[in-house]
Amino acid sequence: MAKQEKVRKRILVIGGDGIGPEVTRWGRRVLEAVAEKYGHEFIFEEGLMGHAAIEATGDPLPEDTLSKARQSDAILFGAIGHPKYDQDPGLKVRPEQGLLRIRKELGLYANLRPIKLFDELLAASSIKPEVLQGADILFFRELTGDVYFGEKKKAEDGSWASDLMIYHAYEVERIARRAFEAARQRRKTLCSVDKANVLESSRLWRATVQRIAADYPDVTCTHMFVDNAAMQLIRDPRQFDVILTANLFGDILTDEASQIAGSMGMLASASIGDGTGLYEPIHGSAPDIAGKGIANPLASILSVALMLQIGFQMQEEAEAVVRAVDQTLKAGYRTVDIADKHTPNHMMVGTDGMGQQIIRFLS
Ligand code: IPM
Ligand code: MG
Repeated sequence: MAKQEKVRKRILVIGGDGIGPEVTRWGRRVLEAVAEKYGHEFIFEEGLMGHAAIEATGDPLPEDTLSKARQSDAILFGAIGHPKYDQDPGLKVRPEQGLLRIRKELGLYANLRPIKLFDELLAASSIKPEVLQGADILFFRELTGDVYFGEKKKAEDGSWASDLMIYHAYEVERIARRAFEAARQRRKTLCSVDKANVLESSRLWRATVQRIAADYPDVTCTHMFVDNAAMQLIRDPRQFDVILTANLFGDILTDEASQIAGSMGMLASASIGDGTGLYEPIHGSAPDIAGKGIANPLASILSVALMLQIGFQMQEEAEAVVRAVDQTLKAGYRTVDIADKHTPNHMMVGTDGMGQQIIRFLS
């Protein structure tokens, strides 16, 4: 049945915080099912990161996790964050530092966030179905630069604080090339989003993208200001193919764009550089629903599909996972975040119920 050769891969699983471990468990189960079905060998390791790691070791990214990450072929990650830190901005050691550091250490400069609506979820979004139908966007969010990693300062007396928004041309260039390459495989249009009317770093961004665009004459390249892009995404998402943008703008726009895919619980992402990639849902740790067994595992499962496709070049296996998600939705299974009363045959399930259906369709 499997056309591809049988391969062996090491995968580091980092559940993280909140609903992270609950949904990631199903990502791993799906990988196990894929390995069994196609005769591959996936060797799993577990690692700590975020609040869970701070509690256990005092460090949001322990050395043990980082060294396992370096030795693995791919990382499956859950989510990060805990309300304790959100209530207390004064805390110096924070869960998010773990994720930011692993991105930096592994050079994961390109964050791919595909936004595609499964037809069955047309009614689950708060946006009108006729606006959404057929929308298919691939975000390239820069991930290791910008205000996220620029110098941070604050006054001793607490009267001011600053974060430096900085980009180097080489950082823009390497992600731009990846985005143009991807656009070539798609509908050959790329929209670069910035704030070049105000920000110096955005003017560098735009000039660099314009320079790279000259190497891809077959791709139509446009530029849009981020405030306008935020509006256009909701007004007419079908106008976009590949969107290339900076770290902070991409963080915000992709949460917004998750509504185009029905729910945050559906969106997967791949963070890639020149080595090991990290695959994770775009949703957060959702502490309000953690431990209740209701979190949607599909974003983690779709992250696994990205791992198979991008990380391992296993097209057939990746398609099988996406097909299982499609079939499960067609059969009417819904977690609470994608539930809608308009689907006559819909059956409410929790995290495990959804995960089990995916495995059933996959096998
Ligand atoms: C994301 C998250 C992270 C980010 C947080 C948890 C640091 O929101 O991956 O989108 O801002 O990049
Ligand atoms: Mg985010």
